Amino acid sequence: MSREFEHALLTTLRRARSIAVLTGAGVSAESGIPTFRDAQTGLWARFRPEDLATPEAFERDPKLVWEWYAWRRDVVAKAAPNAGHAALARLATLVPELALITQNVDGLHQRAGSRDVIELHGNIHRSRCVRENTVVESWADTGDLPPRCPRCGALLRPDVVWFGEMLPAAALERAEAAARGCDVFFSVGTSAAVYPAAHLPLVARDAGATVIEVNKDPTRISNAVTYVLRGPSGEILPQLLAAAWPG
Ligand code: OAD
Repeated sequence: MSREFEHALLTTLRRARSIAVLTGAGVSAESGIPTFRDAQTGLWARFRPEDLATPEAFERDPKLVWEWYAWRRDVVAKAAPNAGHAALARLATLVPELALITQNVDGLHQRAGSRDVIELHGNIHRSRCVRENTVVESWADTGDLPPRCPRCGALLRPDVVWFGEMLPAAALERAEAAARGCDVFFSVGTSAAVYPAAHLPLVARDAGATVIEVNKDPTRISNAVTYVLRGPSGEILPQLLAAAWPG
């Protein structure tokens, strides 16, 4: 069943010169990757974030944290990008300017063909030295968990943002500039619960952009956006692109 979209929405998309997209865990849900806050299946349903995704947790039990991320890397490796990721990769070919901003660390946007992805929370496939704060591509497999930096011997950690940590400044600046300068801002598959990412749709709205939320459930910004497209992003995004850019 192809969904009906408002004529004004389709016209706005066709006329857009600059589109910014913020994605969250919901865009990867149809790839089988658990989200954070979905009650039953969410990651936080089984683990407590403060036990795993904080500098204190890593300080307390680096092996546990490293192994949790190794498990998540394995889940992601077995997953494939879904039609929502593919639609966002295609969107970049349909508009003059697209900024794809993600809170996800799974790298599925890149695997779907999106380029220049703005990763606000890092990437689970990268590791970095806790002392040098530099990305480490390879290391000797000594059986140590976490492994150690080949240069200085300090522990390696996932190159992701943990609770209480600052976001990569360059990524955040690019995301904020994109939100301020776009004609259309999509908020896809995010509960808009975590700042500063959750602020971006409101920055776009206040700068005059048309804001579109694609989410299977209401969120705390649903009342603040221009259009709410309720449903799974893996279905809505391909249908929206087909309706706006037929043929
Ligand atoms: P959440 O788990 O908080 O929210 C996922 C959102 O996606 C919810 O609003 C769901 O309703 C929606 N959703 C689930 N399946 C969907 C589908 N198939 N199509 C569309 N929407 C769907 O995940 P995030 O909003 O990404 O931060 O969480 C933001 C941040 O909180 C994460 O990046 C992480 C977490 O703490 C850090 O790790 C720093």
